[in-house]
Amino acid sequence: MGRVDGKVAFITGAARGQGRSHALRLAQEGADIIAVDIAESIPGMERFYAGATQEDFDETVRQVEALDRRIVARTADVRDFDALKAALDEGVAELGHVDIVSANAGVFAFGDESQLVTDAEWDMVNDINAKGVWHTAKAVIPHLIEQGTGGSIILTSSTAGLKGTPNVVAYTASKHAVVGIMRTLALELAPHRIRVNTVHPTGVATDMILNEATFRLFMPDVEHPTQDAAAEIFATTNALPIPWVEPIDISNAVLYLASDEARYVTGTELKIDAGYTIK
Ligand SMILES: NC(=O)c1ccc[n+]([C@@H]2O[C@H](COP(=O)([O-])OP(=O)(O)OC[C@H]3O[C@@H](n4cnc5c(N)ncnc54)[C@H](O)[C@@H]3O)[C@@H](O)[C@H]2O)c1
Repeated sequence: MGRVDGKVAFITGAARGQGRSHALRLAQEGADIIAVDIAESIPGMERFYAGATQEDFDETVRQVEALDRRIVARTADVRDFDALKAALDEGVAELGHVDIVSANAGVFAFGDESQLVTDAEWDMVNDINAKGVWHTAKAVIPHLIEQGTGGSIILTSSTAGLKGTPNVVAYTASKHAVVGIMRTLALELAPHRIRVNTVHPTGVATDMILNEATFRLFMPDVEHPTQDAAAEIFATTNALPIPWVEPIDISNAVLYLASDEARYVTGTELKIDAGYTIK
């Protein structure tokens, strides 16, 4: 028996990184997957890091199918509610229901002092990271209530959803907003036995942070900072002596919250942060 046997998980940002890892971990434990990703570069993100591609998304599909699970994968932008809802509805029509939700899609923009951040950057980050999470919930809640079988919604925040982060104002605000969404939904949906929680990773080894632009956030004076040099500085931010965690570490937390082992866990901010937030 898998820990989420027979369930269907709706995952945004599933083309690569943590989203792909969540899809695979949940599939290993018996879930079928409805996967959404924009799967292309996002205007405004060019100066930070490269976006996911259709090839990345195809690879997620291939790896889930290799586990003998079904996956319905659709490209959609979480900022576009109608497209997101259509993708989910197609998945539910094909797989029969939806039980687990991972609102994971997000972008990381950073580097400027708050007074220098443009409205365009603020809007892009908050539209994806906060409004996109609300859209994901808004699309799935009617399905969960109508099914009447409960559910688990897991919203991906960050350590930046619990602590201030200098020179990262838009992202930090967006990830705090995710906590507010979680607390509100947890109360609204508790009568339906739908649980809502957040996960708060420290740095995770994905394309979002393993890039020169992010390394430079910690080493502004170095033109081409290396990953080894960045690892040393990242490690000083965590209590445990590690620079970052791996996507599987977050997936195991998502799996726990998705499973019946967490049947009375709701409204919780689950930190997978190597002690970052207690420093
Ligand atoms: N990597 C970290 O250090 C870290 C730390 C804490 C929290 N997080 C959060 O974890 C989540 C996953 O990030 P990751 O590390 O896997 O990064 P990633 O960049 O590898 O993956 C993010 C995925 O989201 C997708 N996406 C982005 N905008 C989208 C949109 N508008 N519509 C649909 N899909 C979209 C991307 O295409 C990509 O596939 C994000 O919410 C991120 O903010 C990351």
